[in-house]
Amino acid sequence: MSSSIAWDERYAGGDFAFGEVANDFLRGQGFRLRPGMRALAVGDGEGRNGVWLAEQGLVATSVDWSAVGLAKAAALAARRDVALATVTADVARWDWPVAGFDVIAWIFVHLPPEDRALACAGAMRALAPGGLLLLECFTPAQEGRRSGGPKDPSLLWSRALVERHFAGLEVLELLDGTVALDEGPRHQGLAEVVRAVLRRPS
Ligand SMILES: C[S@@+](CC[C@H](N)C(=O)[O-])C[C@H]1O[C@@H](n2cnc3c(N)ncnc32)[C@H](O)[C@@H]1O
Repeated sequence: MSSSIAWDERYAGGDFAFGEVANDFLRGQGFRLRPGMRALAVGDGEGRNGVWLAEQGLVATSVDWSAVGLAKAAALAARRDVALATVTADVARWDWPVAGFDVIAWIFVHLPPEDRALACAGAMRALAPGGLLLLECFTPAQEGRRSGGPKDPSLLWSRALVERHFAGLEVLELLDGTVALDEGPRHQGLAEVVRAVLRRPS
Protein backbone atom coordinates (compact mmCIF):
# COMPACT_ATOMS: atom_id res chain seq x y z
CA MET A 1 0.00 0.00 0.00
CA SER A 2 1.79 3.14 -1.12
CA SER A 3 -0.60 5.99 -1.87
CA SER A 4 -2.53 8.46 0.19
CA ILE A 5 -5.74 7.24 -1.49
CA ALA A 6 -5.09 3.70 -0.31
CA TRP A 7 -4.51 4.95 3.23
CA ASP A 8 -7.64 7.10 3.05
CA GLU A 9 -9.58 3.95 2.14
CA ARG A 10 -7.97 2.00 4.95
CA TYR A 11 -8.91 4.70 7.47
CA ALA A 12 -12.51 5.13 6.24
CA GLY A 13 -14.97 3.94 8.85
CA GLY A 14 -15.18 4.27 12.59
CA ASP A 15 -12.51 1.81 13.73
CA PHE A 16 -8.92 2.81 14.52
CA ALA A 17 -6.60 0.59 12.46
CA PHE A 18 -3.82 0.74 15.07
CA GLY A 19 -6.01 1.49 18.06
CA GLU A 20 -6.52 4.68 20.03
CA VAL A 21 -3.78 3.91 22.56
CA ALA A 22 -0.33 5.29 21.82
CA ASN A 23 2.45 2.96 20.74
CA ASP A 24 4.03 1.03 23.66
CA PHE A 25 7.61 1.98 22.78
CA LEU A 26 6.70 5.67 22.57
CA ARG A 27 4.91 5.55 25.92
CA GLY A 28 7.98 3.88 27.41
CA GLN A 29 10.02 6.93 26.40
CA GLY A 30 7.73 9.25 28.34
CA PHE A 31 10.37 9.82 31.00
CA ARG A 32 12.42 11.76 28.43
CA LEU A 33 9.59 14.19 27.58
CA ARG A 34 8.81 17.52 29.21
CA PRO A 35 5.72 19.73 28.92
CA GLY A 36 6.18 22.47 26.36
CA MET A 37 8.46 20.49 24.07
CA ARG A 38 7.48 20.79 20.42
CA ALA A 39 6.63 17.31 19.14
CA LEU A 40 5.99 15.94 15.68
CA ALA A 41 4.31 12.58 15.08
CA VAL A 42 5.37 11.56 11.56
CA GLY A 43 2.91 9.51 9.51
CA ASP A 44 0.56 9.66 12.47
CA GLY A 45 -2.48 8.30 10.66
CA GLU A 46 -5.46 8.43 12.99
CA GLY A 47 -3.47 10.33 15.60
CA ARG A 48 -3.00 7.99 18.55
CA ASN A 49 0.62 9.08 19.07
CA GLY A 50 0.18 12.81 18.45
CA VAL A 51 -2.78 12.88 20.83
CA TRP A 52 -0.77 11.07 23.51
CA LEU A 53 2.12 13.52 23.11
CA ALA A 54 -0.37 16.39 23.54
CA GLU A 55 -1.73 14.71 26.65
CA GLN A 56 1.80 14.74 28.11
CA GLY A 57 1.76 18.53 27.77
CA LEU A 58 3.79 18.76 24.58
CA VAL A 59 2.92 21.10 21.73
CA ALA A 60 2.00 18.39 19.27
CA THR A 61 1.69 18.22 15.49
CA SER A 62 0.70 15.19 13.43
CA VAL A 63 1.73 15.00 9.79
CA ASP A 64 0.36 12.40 7.38
CA TRP A 65 -0.67 12.29 3.73
CA SER A 66 -4.07 10.81 4.62
CA ALA A 67 -6.63 13.58 5.15
CA VAL A 68 -9.11 10.92 6.30
CA GLY A 69 -6.70 9.71 8.97
CA LEU A 70 -5.95 13.22 10.17
CA ALA A 71 -9.64 14.11 10.40
CA LYS A 72 -9.96 11.20 12.82
CA ALA A 73 -6.84 12.42 14.63
CA ALA A 74 -8.41 15.86 15.09
CA ALA A 75 -11.63 14.26 16.34
CA LEU A 76 -9.69 12.08 18.79
CA ALA A 77 -7.85 15.14 20.11
CA ALA A 78 -11.14 16.99 20.56
CA ARG A 79 -12.64 13.99 22.36
CA ARG A 80 -9.62 13.88 24.69
CA ASP A 81 -9.70 17.67 25.10
CA VAL A 82 -6.16 18.38 23.91
CA ALA A 83 -4.75 20.61 21.18
CA LEU A 84 -3.28 18.84 18.14
CA ALA A 85 -2.15 20.57 14.95
CA THR A 86 -2.51 18.46 11.82
CA VAL A 87 -0.66 18.81 8.53
CA THR A 88 -1.71 16.87 5.43
CA ALA A 89 1.48 16.32 3.44
CA ASP A 90 3.68 13.76 1.76
CA VAL A 91 6.62 13.64 4.17
CA ALA A 92 9.04 13.00 1.30
CA ARG A 93 8.07 16.36 -0.22
CA TRP A 94 7.04 18.38 2.83
CA ASP A 95 8.91 21.55 3.69
CA TRP A 96 9.98 20.35 7.16
CA PRO A 97 10.38 23.33 9.55
CA VAL A 98 14.08 23.82 10.27
CA ALA A 99 14.85 23.06 13.96
CA GLY A 100 11.09 23.12 14.47
CA PHE A 101 10.76 20.17 16.85
CA ASP A 102 12.27 18.94 20.11
CA VAL A 103 10.79 15.46 19.65
CA ILE A 104 10.08 13.56 16.45
CA ALA A 105 8.13 10.30 16.79
CA TRP A 106 8.55 8.05 13.75
CA ILE A 107 6.33 5.08 14.51
CA PHE A 108 5.76 2.43 11.83
CA VAL A 109 6.36 4.74 8.89
CA HIS A 110 7.70 2.70 5.98
CA LEU A 111 8.58 4.49 2.75
CA PRO A 112 10.18 3.51 -0.56
CA PRO A 113 13.97 4.01 -0.40
CA GLU A 114 14.12 7.33 -2.29
CA ASP A 115 11.24 8.80 -0.30
CA ARG A 116 12.69 7.43 2.93
CA ALA A 117 15.97 9.26 2.23
CA LEU A 118 14.12 12.53 1.50
CA ALA A 119 11.91 12.26 4.57
CA CYS A 120 14.82 11.36 6.85
CA ALA A 121 16.78 14.35 5.55
CA GLY A 122 13.74 16.47 6.36
CA ALA A 123 13.53 15.02 9.87
CA MET A 124 17.21 15.74 10.39
CA ARG A 125 16.67 19.39 9.42
CA ALA A 126 13.60 19.61 11.64
CA LEU A 127 15.23 18.28 14.81
CA ALA A 128 16.30 21.11 17.12
CA PRO A 129 19.62 20.96 19.02
CA GLY A 130 19.16 18.50 21.90
CA GLY A 131 16.06 17.12 20.18
CA LEU A 132 15.04 13.46 20.28
CA LEU A 133 14.12 11.14 17.46
CA LEU A 134 12.07 8.14 18.61
CA LEU A 135 11.63 5.41 16.00
CA GLU A 136 9.96 2.02 15.88
CA CYS A 137 9.62 0.23 12.54
CA PHE A 138 9.50 -3.28 11.12
CA THR A 139 12.68 -5.05 9.99
CA PRO A 140 13.24 -7.63 7.22
CA ALA A 141 12.78 -10.41 9.80
CA GLN A 142 9.08 -9.38 9.82
CA GLU A 143 8.63 -10.70 6.26
CA GLY A 144 6.06 -13.47 6.26
CA ARG A 145 4.68 -12.63 9.68
CA ARG A 146 1.02 -11.67 9.83
CA SER A 147 1.30 -9.24 12.73
CA GLY A 148 1.61 -6.17 10.47
CA GLY A 149 4.00 -4.27 8.26
CA PRO A 150 4.47 -3.50 4.58
CA LYS A 151 4.30 -6.23 1.95
CA ASP A 152 7.10 -4.64 -0.09
CA PRO A 153 10.41 -5.62 1.59
CA SER A 154 12.19 -2.52 0.25
CA LEU A 155 10.14 -0.44 2.70
CA LEU A 156 11.46 -2.25 5.77
CA TRP A 157 13.89 -0.66 8.22
CA SER A 158 17.02 -1.99 9.88
CA ARG A 159 19.58 -0.82 12.40
CA ALA A 160 21.94 -0.10 9.49
CA LEU A 161 19.34 2.14 7.82
CA VAL A 162 18.80 4.02 11.08
CA GLU A 163 22.55 4.56 11.40
CA ARG A 164 22.83 5.68 7.76
CA HIS A 165 19.86 8.05 7.61
CA PHE A 166 20.39 9.58 11.03
CA ALA A 167 24.19 9.72 11.03
CA GLY A 168 25.36 12.55 13.27
CA LEU A 169 22.73 11.96 15.93
CA GLU A 170 23.86 10.53 19.26
CA VAL A 171 22.61 7.00 19.86
CA LEU A 172 20.90 6.61 23.24
CA GLU A 173 19.24 3.28 22.34
CA LEU A 174 19.33 1.21 19.15
CA LEU A 175 17.93 -2.30 19.30
CA ASP A 176 16.29 -4.83 17.05
CA GLY A 177 14.38 -7.94 17.96
CA THR A 178 11.04 -9.49 18.73
CA VAL A 179 8.22 -7.64 20.48
CA ALA A 180 4.56 -8.43 21.13
CA LEU A 181 2.25 -5.95 19.42
CA ASP A 182 -1.30 -5.32 20.57
CA GLU A 183 -2.28 -2.21 18.61
CA GLY A 184 -5.74 -2.32 17.07
CA PRO A 185 -6.70 -4.90 14.46
CA ARG A 186 -3.67 -4.21 12.19
CA HIS A 187 -0.82 -4.88 14.64
CA GLN A 188 -1.40 -8.05 16.61
CA GLY A 189 1.12 -10.66 17.71
CA LEU A 190 4.86 -11.16 17.75
CA ALA A 191 6.70 -8.79 15.45
CA GLU A 192 10.26 -7.99 14.39
CA VAL A 193 11.19 -4.35 14.88
CA VAL A 194 14.00 -1.87 15.25
CA ARG A 195 13.72 0.70 18.03
CA ALA A 196 15.86 3.81 18.18
CA VAL A 197 16.27 6.72 20.57
CA LEU A 198 18.58 9.30 19.01
CA ARG A 199 19.52 12.81 20.07
CA ARG A 200 20.83 15.79 18.15
CA PRO A 201 23.89 17.11 19.99
CA SER A 202 23.22 20.49 21.61
C1 LIG B 1 1.45 1.81 9.47
S1 LIG B 1 0.67 3.41 9.50
C2 LIG B 1 1.19 3.98 11.08
C3 LIG B 1 0.35 5.11 11.61
C4 LIG B 1 0.82 5.68 12.93
N1 LIG B 1 2.21 6.07 12.88
C5 LIG B 1 0.60 4.70 14.05
O1 LIG B 1 1.58 4.11 14.53
O2 LIG B 1 -0.54 4.52 14.46
C6 LIG B 1 1.69 4.32 8.37
C7 LIG B 1 1.25 5.76 8.18
O3 LIG B 1 2.20 6.42 7.35
C8 LIG B 1 1.50 7.27 6.47
N2 LIG B 1 2.35 7.51 5.28
C9 LIG B 1 2.88 6.59 4.46
N3 LIG B 1 3.60 7.20 3.49
C10 LIG B 1 3.52 8.53 3.74
C11 LIG B 1 4.05 9.68 3.11
N4 LIG B 1 4.83 9.58 2.00
N5 LIG B 1 3.77 10.90 3.60
C12 LIG B 1 2.97 11.02 4.70
N6 LIG B 1 2.44 9.97 5.36
C13 LIG B 1 2.71 8.73 4.88
C14 LIG B 1 0.21 6.53 6.14
O4 LIG B 1 -0.79 7.39 5.64
C15 LIG B 1 -0.10 5.90 7.49
O5 LIG B 1 -0.93 6.74 8.24
